[in-house]
Formats: sequence, structure tokens, C-alpha cells
Amino acid sequence: MPALSDHVAIVTGASSGIGEATAKHLATEGATVVLAARREGRLNDLKNAIEADGGTALVVPTDVTDRDAVKALAQRTVDEYGRIDVLVNNAGVMPLTYLHNMQTDDWYSTVDINLYGVLHAIEAVLPTMIEQERGHVVNVSSTAGRKVYPGGAVYSATKYGVRALSEGMRQELGPRFGIRVTCIEPGAVATELTDTISDEELKKDSAKMFSKLTPLEAERIAESIVYAVTAPASATVAEILVMPTDQMR
Ligand SMILES: NC(=O)c1ccc[n+]([C@@H]2O[C@H](COP(=O)([O-])OP(=O)(O)OC[C@H]3O[C@@H](n4cnc5c(N)ncnc54)[C@H](OP(=O)(O)O)[C@@H]3O)[C@@H](O)[C@H]2O)c1
Repeated sequence: MPALSDHVAIVTGASSGIGEATAKHLATEGATVVLAARREGRLNDLKNAIEADGGTALVVPTDVTDRDAVKALAQRTVDEYGRIDVLVNNAGVMPLTYLHNMQTDDWYSTVDINLYGVLHAIEAVLPTMIEQERGHVVNVSSTAGRKVYPGGAVYSATKYGVRALSEGMRQELGPRFGIRVTCIEPGAVATELTDTISDEELKKDSAKMFSKLTPLEAERIAESIVYAVTAPASATVAEILVMPTDQMR
């Protein structure tokens, strides 16, 4: 019997990168996966791939900055399957930019997606998980949630926030409601994440930095998430930091 055969998991940011890999891995472990992101075509392709491998997936196109849409995502999941066992709070952007370049739209969109988006999903699933007296929230932070670099001030602010939020959630929701909370902190991973960087000065500098390391494949992060989710219910894997071996900081 696959480890997650009776589980229903919502994955935000499932249309690419870490979210896509995680949805596939959870489905391979038997979970029914609910795929959320904005690009519906990519989500449908993923659903087809999962179903071709014998899994079950539901596509619910969702913009995580839209609080009502995220509530509707959770409601649709409960309507279809009657439960929510796992939320992988993964949707995020990283439009790194030097503060002096005043690309302030990037600052605010980063906070809207990486922090408010995460809160929206927690708000949407928590009543169901509390009622079930079980559930697992996996929040995706970053090494940038532990260290700050020039160009990453706002991104780091959101990822430090996600890490703090995760620890607070673990303390409040584990002992009282049996809800587990895991914070995943990847180092560099080869995904589409850097596509949102439009600060030309920063792009040049970061190209130099990234040329010195070998980014991980998204599958390595998906495997970590599966490890946390498949641990016995009595064990909370509170934090996982996964970095490329040749990444210094
Ligand atoms: N790659 C890395 O090196 C790295 C390192 C540490 C942490 N992380 C974190 O890992 C998470 C996933 O990133 P990734 O590396 O897999 O990058 P990615 O390939 O760019 O994936 C980002 C995902 O977030 C979704 N997304 C963005 N804005 C959204 C919105 N408003 N509403 C719903 N979905 C939205 C995107 O889907 P749509 O565009 O279709 O909406 C996409 O599926 C992020 O939280 C990121 O900060 C990544």
C-alpha cells in the first residue's frame, strides 16, 4: 500500500519547478493531488502526466494573492474529497532587485505572493484541519530565510517571515490539534524562479554568483517534502535545509 494512499494534498505553485516535482512525488506515493497555480495549461499537462502514471489529480487554477480564490480552492478540495491532509504552501516568486534601483512593484508583488499568498492558503485549510484534528502544512522558505544578501532584502524578508510563521504554527497547532508543520529551506534549485528578475544590474551580478554552483534538481526538494509528510504522525519534521554540495552560503 503506498504511504499516502488515503491522503489529499493541495500543492500551490504546481505548474513548474519544486511544486510540479512535489505533486508528482506525492501522487507516486498514492496521494490525490490538487494542483493550484495561475497557468492552467501547465496544470492540465501535469494532471495528464500524473494520471498516465496511475495517480489522481484535480486542477484548480488559483492566484494565491486572491484570498477568496484560495478559500474556493480549499472548499473545492473538501467538496470533491471530503478532507485536506496536506497543504504544500509553495507558490512563490523571486524578482531580486537592488533597493536603490527602486523597482518597488517587485517589492510589493514579492510580499503579496510569498507572504500574503502563504497566509491565504493557511487561512483556507486551517478550519478543515482543526476539525479533522490532523493535517500537515509544508511551507517553502529558503536559505534566504536564514541569510540576507544584497538584492535579496525583500525576498529574504518574506522567507524569514515564512520560517517564523512555520515555527509559530508548529508550536500552536501541533500539541493542541495534531497538525504538523514543516518548513523547507532549499538552496539553489534549477527552476523558472529567476525568470522574474528584471533588475539588469542585479542580473549581471547574480549570473556570476550562480555560475559558481550546480543548482539542485527540483526532485531533491520534492523528496524532502515526501520524507516529512510520510514520517509517522507522532513525528514532526520541523525544518529541512537542502543545499547543493558546492553552494557555499
Ligand atoms: N529555485 C530555487 O532556487 C529556490 C530556492 C529556495 C526556495 N525556493 C522557493 O520554492 C518555491 C517554488 O519556486 P520554484 O523554484 O519551483 O520556482 P518556479 O518554477 O518559478 O515555480 C513557482 C511557482 O509559483 C507559482 N506562482 C507564482 N505566483 C503565483 C500566484 N500569484 N498564484 C499562484 N501561483 C503562483 C508559479 O505558477 P504560475 O506562474 O503558473 O502561477 C509556479 O508554479 C518558491 O516559494 C521559491 O521561493 C526556490
